Amino acid sequence: MAASARVRILDHRTPQERDRPFLPGAGKTWLLPFYDALTRLGGVRVLHRRAVEIAGIEPGQAVADVGCGTGNLSFAVLAAQPSARVTGLDPDRAALRRAARKARRRGVALTLVQGYADRIPAEDASLDHVVSALALHHVDDESRDAFARDALRALRPGGKITIADFGGPASGGGGGHDSHGGGPAHALRHLPGLIRPRTAHAPAAAGDHDDGIVALLTRAGFADAREVAHSDHRFGRVAFVQAGRPAS
Ligand SMILES: C[S@@+](CC[C@H](N)C(=O)[O-])C[C@H]1O[C@@H](n2cnc3c(N)ncnc32)[C@H](O)[C@@H]1O
Repeated sequence: MAASARVRILDHRTPQERDRPFLPGAGKTWLLPFYDALTRLGGVRVLHRRAVEIAGIEPGQAVADVGCGTGNLSFAVLAAQPSARVTGLDPDRAALRRAARKARRRGVALTLVQGYADRIPAEDASLDHVVSALALHHVDDESRDAFARDALRALRPGGKITIADFGGPASGGGGGHDSHGGGPAHALRHLPGLIRPRTAHAPAAAGDHDDGIVALLTRAGFADAREVAHSDHRFGRVAFVQAGRPAS
């Protein structure tokens, strides 16, 4: 894309949300500089590519990447479908700044919005697709439900949602973690549980979903919510769940 590709960061937070806690990507804000290297070593890019393949985004479609962090899923969407109009949403300003730098280096257009999953920055029925990778386990139950309802609102009839996150029938259950191989990705997966930040950005909770993503989307009113694939990744079972907004 041309050097003029537009990259911007918008603040979608309400005054009340300025001190709202969130769990950062690697569990602690100071670990952010290592996030991309850890996830690259941990093979997370493969998960992103798989999620994008499953999503099947078409030219020119409007896509929201919820919990985008440093933007890697958004970049995978843009690599597969360069004319997609992608908005990344995340409460972590520092992660969004990294995503913006990467987008400029790549020369791709990307809108980044500082905000929370339960308030997607899109007009009613304006999105073709909502995607999210490894983010919902950073969100507490109540906000997750609100996210699913808001995703339904923001999607056009027939629009789709594709989520890749820890969970599924073989995940060990109850937010418990499996014993998978070691290495940096393993460390990344366990960081939130091992390090309990005591800053203003302290996490609410982090847990697996078991079958919860399918149930979550069904409860919100999505049609045909189902796990379409999974990956037994070295740091846990990752489920790829897809559903659609009913056409009418
Ligand atoms: C493990 S990272 C995943 C980032 C990115 N999707 C990826 O696959 O590399 C989880 C992300 O969720 C974000 N997050 C935490 N709480 C959130 C919330 N309430 N709403 C939206 N995103 C949130 C974190 O800031 C972090 O960037």
